[in-house]
Amino acid sequence: MKKETKKILVTGGAGYIGSHTAVELIEKGYDVVLVDDLSNSHLNSLKGIENITGVKPTFERFDLCDADRLEEFFSRHHDVDAIIHFAASKAVGESVEKPLKYYTNNIAPLTNLLAAMKRYDIPNFVFSSSCTVYGEPDTLPVTEQSPIKPAISPYGNTKQIGEEILSDTSYSDEFYNTIALRYFNPIGAHASAEIGELPLGVPANLVPFITQTAIGIRECLSVFGDDYGTPDGSCIRDYIHVVDLAKAHVIAVERLIAGNNKKGFEVFNLGTGTGTSVLEAIKSFEKVSGQSLNYKIVPRREGDIEKVYADTTFANDELGWKSEKDLDEMMASAWKWELRLKEEREKTTPQEA
Ligand code: NAD
Ligand code: WQD
Repeated sequence: MKKETKKILVTGGAGYIGSHTAVELIEKGYDVVLVDDLSNSHLNSLKGIENITGVKPTFERFDLCDADRLEEFFSRHHDVDAIIHFAASKAVGESVEKPLKYYTNNIAPLTNLLAAMKRYDIPNFVFSSSCTVYGEPDTLPVTEQSPIKPAISPYGNTKQIGEEILSDTSYSDEFYNTIALRYFNPIGAHASAEIGELPLGVPANLVPFITQTAIGIRECLSVFGDDYGTPDGSCIRDYIHVVDLAKAHVIAVERLIAGNNKKGFEVFNLGTGTGTSVLEAIKSFEKVSGQSLNYKIVPRREGDIEKVYADTTFANDELGWKSEKDLDEMMASAWKWELRLKEEREKTTPQEA
């Protein structure tokens, strides 16, 4: 007899996007199992998921590179209906310094999971890909058919290789139903401020750097270049609210479980379709936070793309998903999260009177 409640394995479930997706899945009545080695996250996010949903998620801590441990996991969780695979290392700069770490950690878990799926009769798989596969696009907005450009970093290359592994595997064996979601720039946090992004050390990404500067952890935000071929000279990106992104994963999983996918391997862009410059992002942050941000223009950052934003038609029409939250809401939630982190720090390190 088929069980009523579908069970979803979320790898990297303690991380930024994984924890937000776990919340959306639980709120839609799914049974979730989170696996994470906590190499880039904290147990607090599990507490956050529980505080939001009222459900303590099942969690197992292990490294997905360990195929034997994964096998042992599936021997107890063979009733999983679909896997959402977030677990990976994601620091672009670090990947240039430590390429083997990235080629191992971003590929071995993927092949381990695909092999185990066949043995345990779990056909459905959603993969975290990235707009990084488009490099510097020739035309905008980018569609799923836009050319894939040679990767600028080992990290970016692992996303291209990951997609190829899924495409080849799904083509060779019709057992597999796989979807790659190409995220543009995920930012923001859950409205409750129970979960959010937790960058280790100095953030490489724009929004955590903005909020950390505003809260006083960083002195000044460096804006990398104002001499690009854009209206205000700063780079343009397609920022997307992490909760909108999380909701797209639920829809992707539902598509696979219902057997509504058209091919064994499908790809969708997940963005808002709107390009925002760095200076516009700063203005939005200043407006919603009421803070004046200390920033300065510095030379361009090596490897930066001038402008990229998504054509979301395919995701809108075929998945029936559309982003709902605007830039101000993204910035307001990121700021609320940063304030929450400050509050937590002050609880653990009481201030001098
Ligand atoms: P994150 O670092 O917050 O989450 C990833 C989680 O995976 C972390 O909790 C980490 O501890 C865990 N993990 C890493 N390696 C593991 C392993 N071998 N075994 C078990 N757990 C492991 O990152 P995120 O921002 O939530 O990103 C999730 C996915 O989305 C990643 O694949 C990332 O490459 C991709 N992505 C992220 C962005 C972004 O800007 N955040 C953009 C595009 C794509
Ligand atoms: C955004 C904009 C910077 C920091 C990276 C990865 C990509 C994807 C998303 C995973 C750019 C500018 C930034 C700062 C700045 N991740 N900036 N000062 O570079 O679009 O993409 O994250 O797949 O693969 O490369 O995001 O947040 O680093 O930068 O001016 O201190 O903000 O130049 O224009 P990016 P980002």
